[in-house]
Amino acid sequence: MASPISCLSILVIPLLLTSLFYHVSNADQALVESICNVMRDKNFCLTELLSNPQSISSNLSMLGIITIDLNLKVFEEAEGQISKILGTLKDPLDQSRLTNCKTNLANARETIKTARNATQGQSKEQNLIMDAFVKIYNCNSAYWKPPNRPNPIDKLTNKIVELFNISNQIIAMIGKS
Ligand SMILES: *[C@@H]1O[C@H](CO)[C@@H](O)[C@H](O)[C@H]1NC(C)=O
Ligand SMILES: *[C@@H]1O[C@H](CO)[C@@H](O)[C@H](O)[C@H]1NC(C)=O
Ligand SMILES: *[C@@H]1O[C@H](CO)[C@@H](O)[C@H](O)[C@H]1NC(C)=O
Repeated sequence: MASPISCLSILVIPLLLTSLFYHVSNADQALVESICNVMRDKNFCLTELLSNPQSISSNLSMLGIITIDLNLKVFEEAEGQISKILGTLKDPLDQSRLTNCKTNLANARETIKTARNATQGQSKEQNLIMDAFVKIYNCNSAYWKPPNRPNPIDKLTNKIVELFNISNQIIAMIGKS
């Protein structure tokens, strides 16, 4: 008959192992979590950053580059959607608003590519990201003016802005480290 001790071990050892692994992976995620903890949408931040397996072993400057690369993918997706939607629009106002977004997105994309390279100068990178943010804001704000219409790409422009915020948070942390 099994002794109470061995019964206990059977229960306790897997628990110990599970918590050990949990702590190890938590330690690796600590930097990512310290970035995401201060974001309004913490889960979005974690999901985005952890979608790149390199994130858990990256330092702040690498995470800065990873965040911009994630954003460049959203830009690509948004530009693809704009091209598709533009061909279907009949209303001149809808057409001009989305064409305006197309121009702003293309300019903002070039700006953040430059920001990606500006790994040495944090304040330069921050200015570039702010500049790109203003361009995306211009795309969004045209839709808030009368006549108010839904922005057909707002899910993607919102995602771009959230990723800009993560970039800003990373730059701020680099500045303090
Ligand atoms: C992103 O920045 C804007 C403007 O500073 C702020 O209103 C918003 O709450 C921020 N979002 C997150 C997720 O921190
Ligand atoms: C961050 O990691 C990259 C790539 O591993 C490395 O080249 C760079 O020197 C590191 N930066 C700091 C500040 O440790
Ligand atoms: C960024 O750097 C890469 C390689 O160093 C270079 O090929 C690229 O043209 C640069 N991009 C910008 C926008 O400066």
